[in-house]
Amino acid sequence: MTTANGRTADHEIGKLFLERWSPRAYTGEAIPEETLLTILEAARWAPSSYNMQPWRFVYARRDTPAWEKFLGLLVPFNQSWAKNAAALVYIISKTHMQPPGADNPVPSHTHSFDTGAAWGSLALQAEKSGWPAHGMVGFDIPGAATALGVPEGYRVEAVCAIGRKGDKSLLSEQMAAREVPSARKPLSEIAFEGGFKE
Ligand SMILES: Cc1cc2nc3c(=O)[nH]c(=O)nc-3n(C[C@H](O)[C@H](O)[C@H](O)COP(=O)(O)O)c2cc1C
Repeated sequence: MTTANGRTADHEIGKLFLERWSPRAYTGEAIPEETLLTILEAARWAPSSYNMQPWRFVYARRDTPAWEKFLGLLVPFNQSWAKNAAALVYIISKTHMQPPGADNPVPSHTHSFDTGAAWGSLALQAEKSGWPAHGMVGFDIPGAATALGVPEGYRVEAVCAIGRKGDKSLLSEQMAAREVPSARKPLSEIAFEGGFKE
């Protein structure tokens, strides 16, 4: 049985899947650009439909000119803890693709799915590198594209904080109480042999 972080998998899996979780207590330590690029490199190798690689990443490291703008796009709750992260990465997908043999771009059925796969790789590499990531949908969704200069034909999917994990005493009492790796639904509730089951 695989265990880590107080989590137990019901079937044997790589430890990294249990070790990865989403902290909010970040130390404020600056991340070397090379480390951040390593984390994005892992995302780059994700699988995608037709190998179209619809993912894009727009990032800012703390103490750089873009940081305040990137942070300011988050909802106040997320700002309150992500301000101590080392980097913020907006995760964007390209909504159209030109399949082999087609004359024109067509809407992609899988742009978000593919980009989610890239985010998964990013989060696992971030954990492995010692700079865990925390995904967020709490940001100015209508305003982010304009603020980040994202053109038409792209969707801002989410944003993640990346940083050095600190002690939960860095957080408010309320947030500190939630600073613990979470559990999961049983596999029997999400995986069905032979057909969908409600
Ligand atoms: C796309 C996405 C959006 C999320 N949005 C937020 C958010 O806005 N604020 C937040 O504190 N956590 C957010 N989370 C973190 C989730 O709550 C967290 O991943 C989930 O509870 C599972 O916990 P774990 O990642 O620690 O295993 C988000 C996660 C994902 C993947």
